[in-house]
Amino acid sequence: MPGAPPASADPDRGRKEDRTVAAERMRTLLEAAAAPSGFLPFDQFMALALYAPEVGFYARRASPLGPEGDFYTSAHVHPVFGASIAAHLKAVRRTLEPGRPFRLVELGPGDGTLARSILTALGPSPEGSGPLEYVLVDRSPRRAATAFERAEPAARAAGAALTLSASVGADGPFEGAVIANEVLDAQPCRRLRWAEGRWRELGIRLVHGRPVPAEAALTRPVPPPDLPATPEEGLVFECSPGAESLVREVADHLTAGAVLLLDYGMEEDELVRGHPEGTLTALREHRTVPDPYEDPGANDLSAFVNFSRIRAAAARAGLEEVAYCSQTEALAAWGISDLIAAEAARARSSEEEVRIRLAAKSLLFGFERFRLLELAPPASARAIRGVT
Ligand SMILES: C[S@@+](CC[C@H](N)C(=O)[O-])C[C@H]1O[C@@H](n2cnc3c(N)ncnc32)[C@H](O)[C@@H]1O
Repeated sequence: MPGAPPASADPDRGRKEDRTVAAERMRTLLEAAAAPSGFLPFDQFMALALYAPEVGFYARRASPLGPEGDFYTSAHVHPVFGASIAAHLKAVRRTLEPGRPFRLVELGPGDGTLARSILTALGPSPEGSGPLEYVLVDRSPRRAATAFERAEPAARAAGAALTLSASVGADGPFEGAVIANEVLDAQPCRRLRWAEGRWRELGIRLVHGRPVPAEAALTRPVPPPDLPATPEEGLVFECSPGAESLVREVADHLTAGAVLLLDYGMEEDELVRGHPEGTLTALREHRTVPDPYEDPGANDLSAFVNFSRIRAAAARAGLEEVAYCSQTEALAAWGISDLIAAEAARARSSEEEVRIRLAAKSLLFGFERFRLLELAPPASARAIRGVT
């Protein structure tokens, strides 16, 4: 006979069972990927931990982003971040031929917070403009669906056609812009270690079903440029060929306009000097998890972007640099101070005004390792430099 659960029933039981099933599924996927040698290179481990269907960190039901999740991005601090980007996008649009479609492709929109604030700030297009398209491309179908739902009202208000797409290039070549905030750092990275005169590949092995750090001979080449020439014994070197190929894919499809890559990272020599043990970080519920191999799928994994390699890949793919600066400098150049002043002037209470000013402080000074790399096809690079 149905009835109320016994008083001793664990209210979290369902969630714990889900977690156990997810952990089992992840273990099966890791075992299959590591077979037959038992060694799985770190980038392949990270790809499963973050993106395995249903059980990867970004594939889970609940969004990992925002105050309720595991971490937040600049987009969650205040909509003025997206509004500053929108101000620059308007300038980029002015360099393109009027009347033609202007397509904005956002890579890795996550929960759609950034898309919503960019579209809100863009608002309806000026008279005589071509159609505005906003395309969401997320590796996780679940995140893409959430992003679509969150951005849809703002897209409607701006008169933009909002769509989902499988990749930057899926809908063919285009004019407009590509925006990626905190996406490069989420690309699976390779980790190598210099030991006794040669590089070794770092990765994992499963011991009693749990991943533990392991290393093996380097059997896959690393894309150019060459690896550091005279490393210290034990140096851990990180790079992401996946992030570099994402830049190449953008270069292959963006015919005019700009690429805005916002992320945290450094130049390769700074990484080698300042982080000889690597920069791999695991996060859960806004805290660092001491063991990044623990409970794959439950934690965010990321590493600093190796900007030297991203810049080299962009140059090889024919993109020119329009800007390479701190995120703070970029926001300042895009007019964040005026946008904050306008927001503060509109505040309905002194408490709201203080909140706006605190958010502005956090955006300008709380993301200190974040950089903007703005790239463009050569003709657009010249035009954008001319208007900004
Ligand atoms: C750290 S979140 C950033 C979210 C959002 N850009 C923001 O600023 O709040 C990274 C997002 O990128 C997505 N992602 C990772 N790799 C991707 C790829 N190669 N193509 C498209 N999306 C990707 C993830 O699924 C996730 O939604």
